[in-house]
Amino acid sequence: MKTHVEQQGWSLPVVLALVLVIAAVTIGIAALLVNINERKTEAKTASVRLVEVTEDTTDPAQWGVNWPKQYDSYQRTAIATRTRFGGHGGSEALPAEKIERDPWLKRMFLGYAFSIDYRDRRGHAYMLQDQEQTQRLTKPQSGSCLHCHASVMPLYRKLGNGDAKAGLDATHKLTYQETNAMLKEVGGAHPVSCVDCHDPNTMKLRVTRPGFIEGIQKLANSDAPVPHLPSMQQWRESGRANPYDPNVDGTRNEMRSYVCGQCHVEYYCSSKMPLTFPWDKGLRAAQMEEAWNQTKFPDGEQFFDYKHAESGAKVLKAQHPEFELWSQGVHARSGVSCADCHMPYMRDGATKVSDHWVRSPLLNVNRACQTCHHFSEEEIKSRVDQIQTRNFELMQRGGVAIVALLDALQAAKAAGATEAQLAPALELQRKAQWRLDFIAAENSMGFHAPQEAAMVLGEATDYARQGELVARGWNQPQTTAAKPEQTAAAR
Ligand code: HEC
Ligand code: HEC
Ligand code: HEC
Ligand code: HEC
Ligand code: HEC
Repeated sequence: MKTHVEQQGWSLPVVLALVLVIAAVTIGIAALLVNINERKTEAKTASVRLVEVTEDTTDPAQWGVNWPKQYDSYQRTAIATRTRFGGHGGSEALPAEKIERDPWLKRMFLGYAFSIDYRDRRGHAYMLQDQEQTQRLTKPQSGSCLHCHASVMPLYRKLGNGDAKAGLDATHKLTYQETNAMLKEVGGAHPVSCVDCHDPNTMKLRVTRPGFIEGIQKLANSDAPVPHLPSMQQWRESGRANPYDPNVDGTRNEMRSYVCGQCHVEYYCSSKMPLTFPWDKGLRAAQMEEAWNQTKFPDGEQFFDYKHAESGAKVLKAQHPEFELWSQGVHARSGVSCADCHMPYMRDGATKVSDHWVRSPLLNVNRACQTCHHFSEEEIKSRVDQIQTRNFELMQRGGVAIVALLDALQAAKAAGATEAQLAPALELQRKAQWRLDFIAAENSMGFHAPQEAAMVLGEATDYARQGELVARGWNQPQTTAAKPEQTAAAR
């Protein structure tokens, strides 16, 4: 009996040979494609390595030999820039001009040890130098300040015998000067460097900072919605077998924001307790407030940052919550990362290079925004300006309200009110101050999430005015004064 093919004039051995040839060719082509692909990836990551870089290579100039284009742009962070709202605000210290522009800030911060000699915030190239210079003029600071101002990982590994988190925790009781001297011995003194964001073997993005890794794990373990972080949602759904690890679980796109979240965040740093990112309840202002309210110092006292010099309220100080505010905006929700706007691609012949001159995107609208938004540069800038101006004006309203609260507290004290009688009003001062400061300390003047910023400012003004009412009615029966939670939605 003949097979079907043989009936058509093909003998079985010929068919088999043909099949084998086709298979061999297919395998050959596949291998070639894989090879081409590997070469491409190699070209992208390894390029030509002229200099060996390792986990201990904190000097960016060494890396610069291998990746000159990225290094060139990185070096440009030493160039001073300025925009209408960008480049001069700073939250750790109060710029003279900012105090003049917003006098209520000074009143709100009475009792907070801020630096007298303020230097403008500048590019990444200056982060260590600027901290050292401020350092000379203020009260003693914790060694953990270096977490976000230097390429500090080799020192942490040394202090923790290989365990970087233990190394970081060991620095909080050391003075800034001691730790800074050790840094210079171990890793040289460099600001944020290539090794802080890149794996020296693969050049893949990675995070290194123990404070961030601990913080992002707390966020993963919470039940706060994180629609902007798909890998975290997936981790939550898939049984949480191992702790959430940004370097393993994070998507490439998420890493493009995580690397910045190592530093551009709210934190607490002093000798009283180890460096803390308050993300146990989520990233929104009210959620972080809740986390701080549940925090106790090692001696059992309720957490606070400083005691207000006039009212005695124990209040919170906010620091640059860019990662947190961004998380609430439409850009984060649409998968637009920090690097998309602050490190956009530059064309360089056939390759694309990420601009390591990290700066205000308003100086670079063409590459930072117009890749997605097809409006003129002028139109885009004007939209940003509109958002920022509205945010600025709403913030001034908050400032007026908190000054009114402080005045009412002063008057009540002068009339004989005791601290116990004023306690509810002081609690409202803490809430109002936290929200106002949150938006003032955030560096985008509301742009990263305009509606969220407006909501936080609205709450700030409301709490300040409620506090004012309570303070004014200190000697009247409770019913005539507004109760703290009367209008605020419990969240
Ligand atoms: C959609 C684009 C976009 C994204 C995404 C974005 N930013 Fe921004 N960012 C801006 C704009 C616009 C400003 C306002 C700049 C100005 O006023 O000059 C800004 C301001 C800043 C500033 C202050 C800059 C200065 O010159 O004073 C910092 C710091 C910052 N962003 C960090 C971040 C971080 C960290 C992330 C991610 C967590 C992020 N940004 C995500 C657009 C973006
Ligand atoms: C979690 C990261 C982090 C820690 C910890 C940290 N900083 Fe910063 N610091 C930043 C970031 C981000 C900026 C830039 C944004 C800004 O100025 O608001 C900054 C800005 C500053 C500036 C302003 C720079 C200038 O000259 O304008 C000073 C000064 C400063 N920090 C000092 C300190 C001191 C002192 C400590 C320890 C108490 C400290 N920092 C701890 C992240 C951090
Ligand atoms: C190791 C901590 C650290 C990391 C990581 C980091 N920053 Fe910064 N950044 C700082 C500090 C500190 C300053 C203030 C430096 C100074 O004023 O001396 C700063 C300043 C800035 C500025 C203001 C620049 C200027 O010219 O005024 C922008 C914008 C910014 N960072 C965005 C980012 C973005 C986007 C990322 C992620 C790609 C990032 N940063 C990663 C610590 C960090
Ligand atoms: C604050 C974090 C940060 C630092 C510091 C940093 N980079 Fe990058 N780098 C990035 C990000 C974000 C990308 C984009 C990667 C991506 O999208 O996968 C990138 C991309 C790269 C790439 C891949 C090609 C490209 O341009 O997109 C190279 C190579 C590179 N960086 C080299 C360096 C060198 C060299 C240094 C030190 C001089 C450095 N980087 C410092 C964040 C950083
Ligand atoms: C990778 C793409 C991408 C980049 C880059 C980008 N955007 Fe957007 N932008 C979006 C998306 C997506 C939305 C959401 C609305 C939509 O779907 O069109 C949005 C919304 C906005 C809005 C309205 C929402 C709001 O927050 O008020 C403004 C204003 C805006 N972008 C400005 C900018 C500016 C300024 C830059 C550069 C600094 C920028 N965008 C960069 C994708 C991008």
